[in-house]
Amino acid sequence: MTPDLTTKIKHLEFRNPVAVASGTFGTKDEYASYMDYEQLGAIITKTITVQPRQGNPMPRVCETVGGMLNAIGLQNKGLEDFLEDKIPYFEKIRTPLIVNIAGESLDDFRILAETLDGYKNVVKAIEINLSCPNVEVGGATFMRKKERILSVVKTVRQETDLITFAKLSPELGDLNEIAGLLIREGVDGLSLINTLKGMAVDIEKRCFRLANKTGGLSGPAIRPVALRYVYEIKKAYKIPVIASGGIMTASDALEYLLVGADLVAVGTANFIDPHATGNILCGILDYCRRYRIARLDDLRGTLIDIDQ
Ligand SMILES: Cc1cc2nc3c(=O)[nH]c(=O)nc-3n(C[C@H](O)[C@H](O)[C@H](O)COP(=O)(O)O)c2cc1C
Repeated sequence: MTPDLTTKIKHLEFRNPVAVASGTFGTKDEYASYMDYEQLGAIITKTITVQPRQGNPMPRVCETVGGMLNAIGLQNKGLEDFLEDKIPYFEKIRTPLIVNIAGESLDDFRILAETLDGYKNVVKAIEINLSCPNVEVGGATFMRKKERILSVVKTVRQETDLITFAKLSPELGDLNEIAGLLIREGVDGLSLINTLKGMAVDIEKRCFRLANKTGGLSGPAIRPVALRYVYEIKKAYKIPVIASGGIMTASDALEYLLVGADLVAVGTANFIDPHATGNILCGILDYCRRYRIARLDDLRGTLIDIDQ
């Protein structure tokens, strides 16, 4: 028996729930020799902005206990390059493409949403990055004002009917409350969670380990935090959720699926083992076979909850 891992979010069908998290799987074909992109449930692109961005000065990544810090600063080649170089590449791959976007102004978000709406043959959904810890304008600190987040979502919503996820981090404030507000503003789903702002010091050189001083913490260290949010928000709102935060193995992914995650996005694990997504997928299939679960939907959200 091959378990049916098909996952549906609104009208969109994914062949399985295993996605790659934004910014951790190259920008185009960098991982293609490790993983057949058509085996993935979804591809979430690195954040794109209207204008190209150089990102922050180096060093901008370092290892920490149970994870890593990054302060990439949304380096990307901008919207024009995305349309000319990335869209034609992804057009040939039969895996739903979720494009992650960020902006420094409402106008940026309007341009991105309106433009991507014209590429529905390739772009199947949008993930709005409202929570990057490593940029000034448009990043998590900037977005801490709820009105800003809400007006971004409203602007995107006005420009496109593409399925839209808002990507959040606890850096923004009370995520349970923010989730409720965003749902009222019309988001179709949430992406939980982006990195948590952190810092590391080199005691020999007596300096910050990142040139940006602070960076976003990712990896297994944040998994319990992310899992808690996915659980609480799924329970409160029943809205589609893309879960990310320290998914290194199939059992990590299964924890998220049991609390109700729709997709599981693998991030930091891709840097440690470029085959991570394939291994996670095989592990989920093995688990389903072991427990005779014919359809992933029969497993999703079935955590035995002592509250009920
Ligand atoms: C090096 C690096 C770059 C990232 N770049 C982005 C990005 O461009 N946009 C975004 O929304 N999230 C970005 N993230 C966050 C990841 O998509 C993911 O949400 C987060 O790292 C938690 O998952 P993980 O613990 O599996 O890495 C980045 C993470 C890392 C480690």
